Amino acid sequence: MNKEEFLERYAIDRKGTNSLKWDKLEERFGDADLLAAWVADMEFKAPEQVIEALKEKVDFGVFGYTYAPESYFEAFINWEREHHGYEVKEEWMRFSTGVVTALYWFVNAFTKPQDAVMILSPVYYPFANAVKDTGRTLISSELINTAGVYTIDFEDFEKQILENDVKLFIHCTPHNPVGRVWTAEEAEKLLSICEKHDVLVVSDEIHHDMTFGDHTHIPSAIVAGGRYSERVITVTSASKTFNLAGLLTSQIIIENEALLEQFDTFVNSVNQTEVNMLGMTAAEAAYNYGADWLEGLREVVKSNERYAVEQFAEHAPKLIVTPLEGTYLLWIDLRAHIQPDSVKEFVQDTCKLAIDYGEWFGENSKGFIRLNLGTEPNYIKQAVDRIIEHLPQS
Ligand SMILES: Cc1ncc(COP(=O)(O)O)c(C=O)c1O
Repeated sequence: MNKEEFLERYAIDRKGTNSLKWDKLEERFGDADLLAAWVADMEFKAPEQVIEALKEKVDFGVFGYTYAPESYFEAFINWEREHHGYEVKEEWMRFSTGVVTALYWFVNAFTKPQDAVMILSPVYYPFANAVKDTGRTLISSELINTAGVYTIDFEDFEKQILENDVKLFIHCTPHNPVGRVWTAEEAEKLLSICEKHDVLVVSDEIHHDMTFGDHTHIPSAIVAGGRYSERVITVTSASKTFNLAGLLTSQIIIENEALLEQFDTFVNSVNQTEVNMLGMTAAEAAYNYGADWLEGLREVVKSNERYAVEQFAEHAPKLIVTPLEGTYLLWIDLRAHIQPDSVKEFVQDTCKLAIDYGEWFGENSKGFIRLNLGTEPNYIKQAVDRIIEHLPQS
């Protein structure tokens, strides 16, 4: 599907629909009158087949306890095989009401209080929360930022593991917010260091479907022909790809039998809910029929990125935009124009935008912003144009 058709069929105004992104601006930002370009969800309706499948359930009218049907496993397993080359087995799969919930479970299940848990910073902020809120010790290895392109400081990564006796590493692949789709070489290097020092790896692959050009997502479990699969715990969902976050359904993949048992034992102590019927229904239909929809979405995101990159290059060339290899989140360094302490005032009070601030993702990222590209071009145009118009020249 092309961009025009996608926008025609799926773009929709979400204001006044209990949308966290649009209708909680006053509470989250202290100003209801902002253009919402923050949290990672989108102004697009789900594929028709998803809506039809949900309607069928609703029309039947019974919402009793349910379970993950065989057809769900089939749909997900086919999707992983076809789109990511990962041959998942049904018995490795578990479910949770969201990836973030699962992150908390993993930290609790696989580490003890005070144990050191590592992240690559800056990264999606619930990673740090999951470590701190569970009484573990947060260890960050700072990514190297070279003119906006981020790479892993492998030496520091290993040093931090050794110095802090790290037990678990929470990996984000593709990486939010720096837009990297880690290469096979990077992934192998990272995982081999984890193997060398017996560090377990949680691989958050929620952004796996949103990659561009030659950048190919490689599930951590199949890096180097699956060499590290026994120490990898994967979590992913149809929620980011198909804009289904409100349906609270994600899946966990654990190949290692002992780890799976450890996980089950922990989860049994905190969670006795079955799966969400509507979440399963929606995700199954999305995996079965959503590929064309996803192509259209990718075109929209890429075209939004192009607009931002071209406009900033022409009118604000000192501003650094990180290349978008994956995710629909654009990471922008405003520091050449604005003092980090003044970014909030500039973005909210002057530009009237609600975005994610760099410091949410890591203490060294103050002065950066994250712009959500999963929206109508008109919103991106407004956001970019407002930034350019008001940017102090330096
Ligand atoms: C890396 C990453 N993990 C998890 C999530 C959220 O997952 P969930 O809504 O399933 O908790 C996001 C949302 O943006 C994300 O970027």
